[in-house]
Amino acid sequence: PVETRVKDLLKRMTVEEKAGQLNQLTGGAFTGPALNDAGQQAKMQMVRDGKVGSMLNVIGATETKAIQTIAIEDSRLGIPLLFGYDVIHGYKTIFPIPLAEACSWNLNNIEKNTGVAAREAASAGIHWTFAPMCDVGNDIRWGRVMEGAGEDPWYAGLVSAARVKGFQGNLDEQHVLACVKHFAAYGAVEAGREYNYTDVSRVALWNKYLPPYEAAVKAGAASVMNGFNTFEGVPVSGSHYLVTDVLKKKWGFTGFLVSDWASFGEMITWGYAADAADAAAKALQAGSMMDMEARVMIAHLPELLKQGKVTVHQLDEAVGRILEAKFKLGLFDNPYKYCDVNREKATLFTAANRQQALQAAQEAVVLLKNNNKVLPISNKSARIAVVGHYADSKEDLFDFWIAQGEFKSAVTLLEGVRKVWGAEQVSFAAGYRADATTDDKLIAEAIANAAKSDVVLVNIGLSGKMAGEDRSLANPVVPEAQVQLLKALKATGKPVIAVVSAGRPLVLTAVEELADAIVYGWILGTESGNALANILSGVANPTGKTVMSFPYAVGQIPVYYNHFNTGRPVQTDGQGNWYSRYRDIPREPLYPFGFGLSYTSFQYSNLQLSSALTDKGKVVTATVTVSNTGDREGEEVVQWYIRDYAAAVIRPVKELKGFEKVSLKPGESKQISWKVDDKVLSFYDASGNLVLESGKFTVYAGGNSRDVLEASLEVR
Ligand code: IFM
Repeated sequence: PVETRVKDLLKRMTVEEKAGQLNQLTGGAFTGPALNDAGQQAKMQMVRDGKVGSMLNVIGATETKAIQTIAIEDSRLGIPLLFGYDVIHGYKTIFPIPLAEACSWNLNNIEKNTGVAAREAASAGIHWTFAPMCDVGNDIRWGRVMEGAGEDPWYAGLVSAARVKGFQGNLDEQHVLACVKHFAAYGAVEAGREYNYTDVSRVALWNKYLPPYEAAVKAGAASVMNGFNTFEGVPVSGSHYLVTDVLKKKWGFTGFLVSDWASFGEMITWGYAADAADAAAKALQAGSMMDMEARVMIAHLPELLKQGKVTVHQLDEAVGRILEAKFKLGLFDNPYKYCDVNREKATLFTAANRQQALQAAQEAVVLLKNNNKVLPISNKSARIAVVGHYADSKEDLFDFWIAQGEFKSAVTLLEGVRKVWGAEQVSFAAGYRADATTDDKLIAEAIANAAKSDVVLVNIGLSGKMAGEDRSLANPVVPEAQVQLLKALKATGKPVIAVVSAGRPLVLTAVEELADAIVYGWILGTESGNALANILSGVANPTGKTVMSFPYAVGQIPVYYNHFNTGRPVQTDGQGNWYSRYRDIPREPLYPFGFGLSYTSFQYSNLQLSSALTDKGKVVTATVTVSNTGDREGEEVVQWYIRDYAAAVIRPVKELKGFEKVSLKPGESKQISWKVDDKVLSFYDASGNLVLESGKFTVYAGGNSRDVLEASLEVR
């Protein structure tokens, strides 16, 4: 058994070799010219000396094999290296950014998409991905909201679990280990500024931030990454409460942890550790393990052990868990099982993978506005003016986490539209400069193009490059130059369809006024242009529903549907005064969580509960009728929310607790049912215990978090 093999190996290891297993270095190349590079030679020597347990950023079957061979053949104990990489939404075939993918509400496909990413990465020597990101995202200033599943903790948990399953499968060589990150509450970074301070209460921690990590851990995730942030005044890499009390003890997590890049060392910069040795001690004492690129573990653990500042038990527990992961992957039996060049060639960027990416991209698109049914453009002889620099720019198509995705093979909006309508019917004008600033000449060209067309498709938003790590923005808005362009296009009198590309929701208030239709295209990956063209032409009917609220104005951020009532909620009669509001803008977001239109329409009626009064331990069945009142088949995400009116700790005005994606033919109605049980009605106390209290609740059903039917329920 694995435990025996781990114990046996630990007995044979020196303290230095154990510290080596906790050391992760960024790799790079180990063949060709790299062999003469002093930096690479130093890393190879460290591997020979048993001072490296894992590498990140070694790419491809050939490179991973080269450095693995050194670990196996030249190091004293021949312990295999573990290769990690950020496979965030695809390896070579790039899928929509995770935030967009989550808007599909299609957990089966999310698992499948992740499976494709895993297969591709695993064929290229990768054992382990640093995903899924399980941070609840409320603040669109934060560039990393792109990597998560939005603002709802419960839904983000389901998505995170699906991603873990997709990555890990049965842990064979077609799959990779998952890594739940950034533990914990990194989504609460103050002011949306990357690497910033976080301060959340334990009630908020348990109810709002921990559920997605917990769901991912319970789904069997093999590893967890510490965040860059703080909890109760302690950098989370050094938080005994989070790492040991919550993760290991309360949740029973038996996998291993890795720091975020240099986060152990950053405990010094935060002002929590005095020096590198202190940082290493504090990290290990908290229960943290592998050190990504700070090198404090390898430098100081042996002396810390001698000084009695850390114990052999602490060290062995950390090292043992990492060795266990390597045994479970079968790397001790065949260290090269992921390094097969032929498999790599046959697996990457296949037609089937691209097809899956196309499907994922179509499902991710959210239709926010469609006045007078201007979409879909079903007329195949329509003359189309495509406007907007991004529509013709492969460079702007991808975000920061593109792994090995290639710009040249990604499909732009212009290419996609030309394929559907034919090049001769499609004209193009850039409309704004590459840096998104105004140019009167470009606007004049765009107007001329619009004038000779039947419809204008204008691609606005932000470059994909603005999404990802270290991409915080103080002004997540549509740039002024693009608003000016929209105004000019609207003045032509032609129908204007805005296709918005961005790695996060943007403030769209100006766009809402100017565009006849708004298609939120996020950052959709390799098949971007094909997916958008299919949506615009009606080949695909949009089914996406946003998993983050779209703010009305920057000053409203963070805005989220599951907010608290306050002591002074909005006065609906418009008469009252002295209540919680803004004097200059509405209090509600422009588009609420769960919102997204279809080319058909849906109506909700007849919400009923099997009983309006229930007891703890019993199940109430809620039913609602959903009808397709439009003229084409479509899919609707039926959403169930609850509200708990009085509790030991205040509860949000709405909480998503159930959903179902249903397909309906024109004129068809279906009765959808949902079970309300103890779990649905419970919340966490400050110690992380689930509590169910008696009292009044409301059950809501609807196609988004705002437009709902409601029914009262009382729990005895
Ligand atoms: O996985 C990432 C993490 O999300 C942010 N910092 C760097 C890590 C490794 O690339």
